[in-house]
Amino acid sequence: MNYKEEILKLKAKLDVTLVAHFYQKDEVFELADITGDSLELAKKSKESKSKFIVFCGVGFMGESVKILSPQKRVLMPKIACCAMARMIDTAYFDDSLKILNQNGIENENILPITYINSSAAVKARVGQMGGYVCTSSNAYKIIEKAAEENKKIFFVPDRCLGQNFAYKMGLKSAVIGKDKDLKDADILCYDGFCSVHQLFHPEDIDFYRKKYKDILIAVHPECDIEVCKKADFVGSTSQLIKYIKELPKSQKVAVGTEFNMVNRLRDENTYILSQTKPECPTMNETSLEDVYNTLKIIERNETKVLENEILVDDDTRKWAFLALNRMFEV
Ligand code: 13P
Ligand code: SF4
Repeated sequence: MNYKEEILKLKAKLDVTLVAHFYQKDEVFELADITGDSLELAKKSKESKSKFIVFCGVGFMGESVKILSPQKRVLMPKIACCAMARMIDTAYFDDSLKILNQNGIENENILPITYINSSAAVKARVGQMGGYVCTSSNAYKIIEKAAEENKKIFFVPDRCLGQNFAYKMGLKSAVIGKDKDLKDADILCYDGFCSVHQLFHPEDIDFYRKKYKDILIAVHPECDIEVCKKADFVGSTSQLIKYIKELPKSQKVAVGTEFNMVNRLRDENTYILSQTKPECPTMNETSLEDVYNTLKIIERNETKVLENEILVDDDTRKWAFLALNRMFEV
């Protein structure tokens, strides 16, 4: 079967918007109506007029659309879960709070911020405590806003993002369970990370700088702090694309983020920073066949809950919405 042709036919006839993150496989990505980084996808999906959103990405992204637009029906061809988002659940969240309490930091002095790469349940916990969601493209602004409350920021789940923005803003960070002086830190980071972005090392930057004298290094803030400190530019997926596209054609640049996205940008002057292929296994799960099958499910026009439909219970949604909405207000 020619899945591409069939998908195009189904898309033309159904009330559906096909959404894809930059890390999706090329064949899926090229058919999308909406592409972008996590923040853009959440915003644009919300604004879409379609009744059905078919979201090609990882679970937390589809969930965020459902939280923001409960009237829409959100389906994911593969409900693949971001490995970093899986590193924290509400029990681990509460355990970390207990550690902070044992270190003399009480809950009333803690303001949580969750990276959007987290479950709806974790976002809800953050919402209940008056906290915010942030993405890699707005973390600076959100932390700046949160800091106005003069509380300790409890940043989950990505320690790298927390450490990188703390460093950029001249704030002190500490990792819960690793660092000792929790009380002295402004940003207390949960010890989660993205295994894909851990594949970039300071030595890779040294290698490229030695090989090409004027090369620039551009990386995602999920990379380790020692990598980000050495880079020329740190930004979200959209910000990286913009940065690279605006460089003069002859400028060499090595990029530290997921393979599919960098490969699409690749020319004779654009390199992948890692020595190992930095593929995100969960982002790569979605195939054209999965997209086709999901559109066929919608075509059957059933009113019951559909296979691979994203659902968020009302109470979780209410609190998670508050945390997401506080982000949009900033
Ligand atoms: P962006 O919001 O920058 O697209 O990042 C999402 C992500 O999961 C990066 O690993
Ligand atoms: Fe999650 Fe990392 Fe994949 Fe991004 S690249 S979706 S953070 S596992």
